[in-house]
Amino acid sequence: MTQEKIQVLWNKNVGPGYFKIGLNCQGEYSEAKPGQFVMLRLCDRIEPLLRRPFSIHRLISGKGQFQGIEILYKVVGKFTKKLSVLKKKELIDILGPLGKGFSIPKNIKRIFMVAGGIGVAPIVFLASQLKNNEMDISRCRMFLGGRSKDDILCLDDFDQLKMAVQLTTDDGSAGSKCLVTHPLETALAERQPDLLYACGPREMLKSVVVLAQKFTVKCQVSVETMMACGMGACLGCAVEPGGASEKYLHACLDGPVFDANTIKL
Ligand SMILES: Cc1cc2nc3c(=O)[nH]c(=O)nc-3n(C[C@H](O)[C@H](O)[C@H](O)COP(=O)(O)OP(=O)(O)OC[C@H]3O[C@@H](n4cnc5c(N)ncnc54)[C@H](O)[C@@H]3O)c2cc1C
Ligand code: FES
Repeated sequence: MTQEKIQVLWNKNVGPGYFKIGLNCQGEYSEAKPGQFVMLRLCDRIEPLLRRPFSIHRLISGKGQFQGIEILYKVVGKFTKKLSVLKKKELIDILGPLGKGFSIPKNIKRIFMVAGGIGVAPIVFLASQLKNNEMDISRCRMFLGGRSKDDILCLDDFDQLKMAVQLTTDDGSAGSKCLVTHPLETALAERQPDLLYACGPREMLKSVVVLAQKFTVKCQVSVETMMACGMGACLGCAVEPGGASEKYLHACLDGPVFDANTIKL
């Protein structure tokens, strides 16, 4: 893990309120895992004081060389507003790579992935990593949900990976008008996968975990908590343990990706 000031490679608007920022970070970042994250802070500005957590969306490479990472973000408040006006070559303060990402067990053949809204950010990275690991991606299914068509992101990425996507929106403006867990439940009832990965709003994750338990499927979830430090010092990211354990977990150190059985959502 390093803390440094690095250059912005690009910062582009990819949908209403959504941006992709390329960051010229090197070293350990070339080995970053899907589900790991970074803590960002603006240089030369006091406000906002606290760093903000963002998942690594993609490793950038060109001409056979690693060039940095890309973050996919949604503008929701003061930090992300200021982030969205950062220009190419400006500097940003980055701490990372942080946390434990998704684990990809050996001998897994059939995978379901579920993402809600901006939760798709680490899932695209995961899907491309599965493909790099020579997983037969045609055996994987992607369930992608959003409030409306404007919140459905990264379809091109799944297209390039040749991965079938089941789309849902709350208002029916794209895909089926229902919660993303509806087609997921139907698919689970037809044929269970070896593993289920999920990232999205907490209510969605709760429903996914209930389904995973109902159909006895192993499940890994990436959880969002408030994070002030990202490295185990502030205790702001506590996650309630599941099962018999009474020890609270840290989303920044023990997660943000957890085996669904080990936490209470
Ligand atoms: C592990 C992790 C990975 C994330 N990955 C992404 C990502 O890839 N793309 C993306 O757009 N967003 C991601 N987020 C959420 C992102 O951190 C918040 O949207 C961002 O911090 C909002 O900052 P703001 O100042 O713009 O908004 P604020 O005005 O501070 O707050 C707006 C909302 O953002 C949430 N928020 C604020 N500060 C934090 C914080 N320190 N930690 C967590 N949530 C916070 C709050 O729930 C609040 O309601 C991730 C969060 C976590 C914990
Ligand atoms: S964010 Fe500070 S302990 Fe986890």
